[in-house]
Amino acid sequence: MKIALGSDHAGLPLKEEIIKHLGDKGIQLEDFGTFTKESCDYPDYAMKVAEKVALKEFDFGILVCGTGIGISIAANKVKGIRAALCSDTFSAHACREHNNANILALGQRVVGAGLALDIVDTFLNAKFEGGRHQGRIDKIATIEGNYSK
Ligand code: RB5
Repeated sequence: MKIALGSDHAGLPLKEEIIKHLGDKGIQLEDFGTFTKESCDYPDYAMKVAEKVALKEFDFGILVCGTGIGISIAANKVKGIRAALCSDTFSAHACREHNNANILALGQRVVGAGLALDIVDTFLNAKFEGGRHQGRIDKIATIEGNYSK
């Protein structure tokens, strides 16, 4: 499994905890920045990770900003991306099982590191259920196609 990670300055400490956690498990990772605490713009890192995931160069993306809101909104503008902002483990497995989410977004200022790492593990271990859910995802793709140039 290959995971692409990104954050802004506000999400950097949690992203570093996630990198250590997943690295210790031997999961292949690539960090697309930011790498310093200097203030930066979350859409830049959302785009870097979302493009890689949309191109299927990575199985999943994990994005972190202060709330997880801005970075998930930005990632969802990339065609083929289904980024889910999760602050609980139920949403973390449901967004894989029902929505086939391909990016997990987290808010450093919202969840503590312990819960965030449980959310990450839950997200990565859950499987898309297909069936009736596939038709709904196809409808999302149709909306996306209708509004893209
Ligand atoms: C940065 O201060 C903050 O606005 C950003 O990390 C994020 O929370 C935006 O949605």
